[in-house]
Amino acid sequence: MKKTLLEIPSKPRRSASIIGTGSYLPERILTNADLEVLVETSHEWIVERTGILERRIAGEKEFTSHMAAEAAKAAIENAGITVEEIDLILVGTITPDTVFPSTACHVQRLIGAKNATCFDVNAACSGFLFGVEIANQFISNSTYDTVLVIGADKLSSIVNWKDRNTCVLFGDGAGAAILRSRPDSRGIITTHMGSDGNYADILHMPGGGCAIPITSENIDSDLNTLQMNGRETFKQAVTSMMRAANIVLDRCGLTPQDIKCVIPHQANIRIIEAMADRLEVPMSQFHINLDKCGNTSAAAVAIALDEAARSGRFETGDLLLLVVFGGGLTYASSIIEW
Ligand code: UT7
Repeated sequence: MKKTLLEIPSKPRRSASIIGTGSYLPERILTNADLEVLVETSHEWIVERTGILERRIAGEKEFTSHMAAEAAKAAIENAGITVEEIDLILVGTITPDTVFPSTACHVQRLIGAKNATCFDVNAACSGFLFGVEIANQFISNSTYDTVLVIGADKLSSIVNWKDRNTCVLFGDGAGAAILRSRPDSRGIITTHMGSDGNYADILHMPGGGCAIPITSENIDSDLNTLQMNGRETFKQAVTSMMRAANIVLDRCGLTPQDIKCVIPHQANIRIIEAMADRLEVPMSQFHINLDKCGNTSAAAVAIALDEAARSGRFETGDLLLLVVFGGGLTYASSIIEW
């Protein structure tokens, strides 16, 4: 006899936890002194206005997928799972190896995750946290069990190396996390994601899509490079990250003081200082690595999370606040029980 829809058993909702992390930074270090040779800038200006001392730059033949795969392998080992157990791969990136296939598919091939479904998430610097929430939803409704989320970018491939307003800020790298249901933890407690396309032009790469295709004229006009209104981006970064942080804290009835460690987007030390001031928590509560990595876009919060976890900054049961901002504009925040 034909079953009615109500008779088809529904799967239970579950919470998703991060069960392992990994990260990768390319070998080559680009110091502020190196940049003094390229553009009219100084070590003192960069440190004072951004807090960045150095950043890593990927090799010419080292693509986003290569960095992503290295971070993924470290996360898989840290989680103690086999690569065959991964049934979904999400890569947050704005510097994919190819427009298509997705970088997630390239990563699948590189690590041999033959049982995974793969796609990319384009949310600029917010890509990793958007990916974590997509994974959370899929795990919660039992569509997938074991998800690899990666934030990876080779921003050096789209930076205009003649533009001192931007080229001093960015670096390359990748960070990864394995998510799975863990009955003894609340895992990802809540997430807020947001976007405002009215600010699309303050941080973008105009060329390379169907609006401004790749032509030699467009390349000569630097339209295939990242462009940013720094002051406006700074303002929007503080406003949207504060809004996102307060929304998830309020939703859980928590104060910033209940949070063991804040993992913020690593764009500028002054943005993080403004947040610490407004949240009324000491800077020591934030995990910061932008001095060594610069802004690695979608990888930033993923690398910082891996570093903080491995250095023992928090333990099982501690509450973390992850908060990001990126081009789009996009922003997101998440409260996680580790
Ligand atoms: O992940 C995405 C998010 N990205 C961000 O969050 C970036 C947000 N914005 C920022 O971090 C800051 O706005 C910057 C670091 C980009 C710039 O700092 P600022 O204090 O806002 O500087 P400004 O843009 O107001 O420029 C001040 C001066 C200008 O000179 P004039 O016009 O006053 O003569 C710039 O031309 O600093 C000059 N300047 C530089 N000088 C030396 C800009 N870049 C440089 C440089 N070296 N690299």
